[in-house]
Amino acid sequence: MNDFQTDPCGLPSTARTPLPTAAPRPPFHLRRLLPFVALVLFLRITVGILLNYPDYFPPNFDSDFLLGRQPYFFGSYHWAFYAHLISGPVTLILGLILISNRFRERWPKWHRMLGRIQCLFILLVLTPSGLWMAQYVDLGPVPAAGFSVLALLTGLSAAMGWRSAVQRRFVSHRWWMSRCFVLLCSAIVLRLVAGFASLIRYEQEWIYVSSAWTSWLIPLALYELFQWKQSMKG
Ligand code: HEM
Repeated sequence: MNDFQTDPCGLPSTARTPLPTAAPRPPFHLRRLLPFVALVLFLRITVGILLNYPDYFPPNFDSDFLLGRQPYFFGSYHWAFYAHLISGPVTLILGLILISNRFRERWPKWHRMLGRIQCLFILLVLTPSGLWMAQYVDLGPVPAAGFSVLALLTGLSAAMGWRSAVQRRFVSHRWWMSRCFVLLCSAIVLRLVAGFASLIRYEQEWIYVSSAWTSWLIPLALYELFQWKQSMKG
């Protein structure tokens, strides 16, 4: 596929041409409803994350997350922790805005500016802080490795996405940035799984340990499968 496009909105020109569809599409109301439900869930969990912040400013060592962390908290950890608390929600919300086609088409300059801020936040703050905090994760090296790989892949996706935008390779830009957003959404998936486990009163260690991997591996695999199917069609 020709990756070099000069559309000012960053859209490949072919993306505007309706393709003949062989398979029947889901009914209109379902197509509108599913993204709406996903958006509500996304915002609900993001707000839920922020509602925990009073326990972190100042640190409450009786709170769930900070319990037992006092011995090392005031060393280098607290710098990574607070950097992460700021960059996490910022990159999640910016990701949601930047992924919107409508936003990019209406405000291409804002898309470019917010995109640069997003990449800087991810590369300079979120990735290093996630990597640092991963060394202190409870329950051993398996979740620690899961979070570390997640941090590196998120940074890599942002860097590749940025590079392809600068080179005006917009198809590849969109792929890398969508990947990056899928990886950021692991923070949502992780809390969704933990919330569900608590709802059914099945809060087991193995769920946390495996979620450090599955919260991003499964969405990423689904995304790659979707992209592969799309490229087969095109
Ligand atoms: C590159 C992606 C990310 C990585 C590698 C990562 C890594 C981590 C790690 C290792 C921890 C500590 C876990 C523990 O010790 O049990 C953590 C905690 C945390 N992360 Fe992330 N994270 C990422 C993205 C995000 C995003 C997008 C948010 C957005 C809200 C976020 C918000 C938080 C918060 C608030 C905590 C503190 C614990 C809590 O209140 O749940 N993280 N993260």
